[in-house]
Amino acid sequence: MSTARHYKIGLLGCGTVGQGLVELVNRNRGLIRERSGIELSFTKILVRDLAKKRPGVDRNLLTIQPDHVINNGCDVVVELVGGLEPARSFIQRALSGRKHVVTANKALLAADGFALLNKAVSQRVQFGFEASVCAGIPIIRALQSGLVGNSIRSLTGILNGTCNYILTRMADAGMPFVDALREAQGKGFAEADPTLDVDGYDAAQKLKILAEIAWGGRIALETVQIEGIRNITLDDVDSARKLGYAVKQVAHAEFNDGGVSLSVHPALLPMAHPLASVRDENNAVQVKGDAVGEMFFHGKGAGSLPSASAVLSDIVDIASHKRSLTRISARAVPVAGADLPYQRYLRFPVGEPSAIGKITSALERQGIGVDRAAAIWAKTSSEQSQVKFVTQSCQADTLRAALSMVSTLGLLQGDYVALRLAA
Ligand SMILES: NC(=O)c1ccc[n+]([C@@H]2O[C@H](COP(=O)([O-])OP(=O)(O)OC[C@H]3O[C@@H](n4cnc5c(N)ncnc54)[C@H](OP(=O)(O)O)[C@@H]3O)[C@@H](O)[C@H]2O)c1
Repeated sequence: MSTARHYKIGLLGCGTVGQGLVELVNRNRGLIRERSGIELSFTKILVRDLAKKRPGVDRNLLTIQPDHVINNGCDVVVELVGGLEPARSFIQRALSGRKHVVTANKALLAADGFALLNKAVSQRVQFGFEASVCAGIPIIRALQSGLVGNSIRSLTGILNGTCNYILTRMADAGMPFVDALREAQGKGFAEADPTLDVDGYDAAQKLKILAEIAWGGRIALETVQIEGIRNITLDDVDSARKLGYAVKQVAHAEFNDGGVSLSVHPALLPMAHPLASVRDENNAVQVKGDAVGEMFFHGKGAGSLPSASAVLSDIVDIASHKRSLTRISARAVPVAGADLPYQRYLRFPVGEPSAIGKITSALERQGIGVDRAAAIWAKTSSEQSQVKFVTQSCQADTLRAALSMVSTLGLLQGDYVALRLAA
């Protein structure tokens, strides 16, 4: 019988994901040994507060000294502290000491991933980050290895569980945006400050990471066009449903005209679209490759054990020497300013529903044909009347000009909403 090889983990951070990792290693240690021949153990675990309750975690392993983790004979340093600093310094120190590193830190990767990966390559150590995008879904592994023989045409995903949870609750329970957000916070999906989630930045960071792997080079976060979901009302979700669509926050990257265009935006997806049926806090990614065609990945995009599952897969891969050094080329991926035409859903809050005629004329004067239009009368004095349109396909530039013209008509009583209809 062959003996298992011992592999020692130095763990930085024992919060949601860190505790999940300890639980999963303890639960499946035997299974991992059988499958990989690796016997995992923890050397030390860094926390801020030694007194905090951490069920299932051996208190003797806890420390508040980062060096007791990084320089304590471990084989791999796992960073699950989060944020930019001190996480970045911890990782740099680990890499300088020629330790393999695994992290789930998408914010740090979006800001500094290239420099950290480069440092890992120059130190000849591994750098795993599977848990940073879509947690439990092995999408990074799929792009790096399973689909390595494909030229990637596009990536379309639901990458932010909080937004998807909010939009699902709005559609299923008729819950207004603020109540659905509060519920997501209560369940621990959304941050106390939900800006990164609902304004689209979290999904943009993840899209950037996936796109850099898919198209093999560097992409500036600023090139992602970002629109949040704050302005979406129950009324929009309901109108979309009546038209046969679901409102989703979609992250989309597409290679066209020699470059990649990237955006995060709310969109109306036909009910038959695979992303339209992704519910609650789940994530999903649809990948189109030139050889494989369309592939669909779906699963839990956050949470203690799903995230720990991805961290553990990196650790076991590294321990089993299963991968070559991860590289991202220094070249900048060309970014296309492709302004693709889409049909749009438009909603304007107005004083008088009769504004529908003037707004239709303004849209048509800008070359935007109207497929459907409806005027909705306010039911109570505190409500607003609305006019809504589904337009024919138009480019963003044309739409911008038309919307700015509508804004000058003196008819609007608040912010308008303009959403893409994705085919
Ligand atoms: N939560 C998820 O579902 C999820 C999913 C995918 C990726 N991620 C990523 O995983 C990482 C960890 O997230 P999390 O949700 O597990 O965070 P968390 O629950 O806030 O845990 C953070 C841990 O780091 C420790 N810590 C924080 N600052 C520290 C410092 N300055 N010095 C020493 N220890 C420090 C905390 O110690 P105390 O416990 O003593 O406070 C805690 O144990 C983040 O990068 C996050 O983006 C999370």
